[in-house]
Amino acid sequence: MSQPIFGGPLVEYNGQHLGVVVADTLERARQGAELVRFGYAPQKPRVELSQFSNEAFALADAPAKTRGDLAAGRARATQTVEATYDVPTEHHNPLEPHATIATWSGDNLMVYDATQGVQACREALADTFNIPIENVRVICPFVGGGFGSKGTMWMHIPIAALAARTVGRPVKLVLRRQEMFSGHGHRAHTVQEMELGATTDGTLTIVRNSTLNETSMRDEWREDTGKMTGMMYACPNVEAGGKIVRLNKMPPTFMRAPGEASGSVALECAMDELAAKLGLDPIDFRLVNDTQTDGSTKKPFSSRALKECLTLGRDKFGWSARKQEPGTTREGRYLVGYGVAGATYPANYRPSRARITLGQNGAVLVQSSSHDLGTGAYTIFTQIAAESLGVSVDIVRVESGDTKLPEGVLAGGSATSASTGSAILDAANSLKKRLVDLATSTEGGPVSGMATKDVEAENGRVFSSANPALGLSYTDVLKASGQLRADAMGNNGKAQRPDLSYYSFGAQFSKVRVDLELGQIRVEKMLGVFGAGRILNAKTARSQMLGGMIWGRGIGMALHEHTQYDPNTARVVTRNLADYHIPSCADAPDIEVEFIPEQDTQMSPIGAKGVGELGIVGAAASIANAVYNATGKRVRDLPLTPDKLV
Ligand code: MOS
Repeated sequence: MSQPIFGGPLVEYNGQHLGVVVADTLERARQGAELVRFGYAPQKPRVELSQFSNEAFALADAPAKTRGDLAAGRARATQTVEATYDVPTEHHNPLEPHATIATWSGDNLMVYDATQGVQACREALADTFNIPIENVRVICPFVGGGFGSKGTMWMHIPIAALAARTVGRPVKLVLRRQEMFSGHGHRAHTVQEMELGATTDGTLTIVRNSTLNETSMRDEWREDTGKMTGMMYACPNVEAGGKIVRLNKMPPTFMRAPGEASGSVALECAMDELAAKLGLDPIDFRLVNDTQTDGSTKKPFSSRALKECLTLGRDKFGWSARKQEPGTTREGRYLVGYGVAGATYPANYRPSRARITLGQNGAVLVQSSSHDLGTGAYTIFTQIAAESLGVSVDIVRVESGDTKLPEGVLAGGSATSASTGSAILDAANSLKKRLVDLATSTEGGPVSGMATKDVEAENGRVFSSANPALGLSYTDVLKASGQLRADAMGNNGKAQRPDLSYYSFGAQFSKVRVDLELGQIRVEKMLGVFGAGRILNAKTARSQMLGGMIWGRGIGMALHEHTQYDPNTARVVTRNLADYHIPSCADAPDIEVEFIPEQDTQMSPIGAKGVGELGIVGAAASIANAVYNATGKRVRDLPLTPDKLV
């Protein structure tokens, strides 16, 4: 998004920054801000997507993608579903708000920021202030959650820098929770029109998604809901396209699993509706349409464990207790239902670099500007370095989140583990080569003078391949050669093979209990089964999936989250965590996570595909499908609040 720091003469959305007051205490700054008065002429704002759908326009660079013959597919279907699914505006709400400290020294700017990408922030700041990029340093060693909201430079960051330059002192600027609903973008409201058709045996003959998507008055954000439409199931006749509508709202942005989170609500609920019409079990229906080829590119998937996820989940979740006929399982005053949905997310692999330094005291330092969002990146970076060097994790330290470090990937798109993890592996391999070089070229040692091809470095030692007893420790290599330290840079290498399609897959299962008198829905248990490549750390990966399934626009998206705007003023009404509901511990059921063993070395040298966002996809749909199975009532606009059920 590109916009002037303080907007223009027109106030385009609620929360647009108009000025900044700087003081020596927070209280004085707030009081000063209270005293500022703005005069403006009110106009009727554009708030409701449906009201302006006649002005929707398609983006020239994102035309509808069509394959096959839609009319033929429609004609061949014995059952069809045409339905519209509504996913409202949602906000990220990390517990840590956005916060920036900016300080100048001459023409050099230093910024401590809450960001998912120090390097991207650095570039944007250099660009904004028209100073050389070397003059800007951005530091962010820890992030208290971001979910996409901290992936780009929002305007409070240059405002803090501008204020600091103006007053000649460091300036700290923190967004209050209320401002976390207008300071940094949101998940765009989407209305997805779906059309599905299949033959009696369940073979899909047509899949069509047409999405209406809100955006701001100046940017052209589009939620890529149709990507999943084109690749998830085998179908010869597919169309995915969309239009955007300009509203007086903050520009939307990516929010965990952008595209697939919303796209899966429409596709996976429509699949459930069609299975019901065909009288097929929804797992069987998905298995009939499973494929090892990405229909949108005609390329085979590097790996795809959807079938394994569905079948393992069916056994583990107790799916046999589910009745195909909806509204027929009653426990006391509750109706009980089971739902399933497929999940997928692109396995992203982006350029990343890392450096490893070994000191004479044996300490290992791993450095990359990549971030730990609370996802466990520090932990797995430590593990990868320790494992590949063959040293204990205790002596490995990781530094990240600083532009002075080797350029790591932005923490987004679930790309960090595979990308930076592979860069660390590469750095470790280079470091081992360097130690072999040093050991063989230093005189008087056990491997001195040997050809490097006859010498290995593993498990903290450099030794002769022919006679492993002949060797010395890494630190002795450094001591013998008189080096205080040795270091090596690594990167994650060539792009992936272009002839494959890279996605992670999963299956989400939910059991709900519905009180029809009160309209209350309780998610009683959930199971997510995922094929996400090699799992580097079972504990942090599981935790990622749990978070995705709960907040994840699993329970949150299905039952709670909805940013509401006043249609008269375009103001955000739900500007705090009392009015904007997110799941709490009490809403979180018994959740289990399973990973299908997978080692995808086509995807990345370390075999990982990435886990973060996958846990979100399909979770909301599985809950909505379970509610249908419990009640026979199909609610297509999220969240599933009691008023829509009673
Ligand atoms: Mo994200 S929405 O990959 O920061």
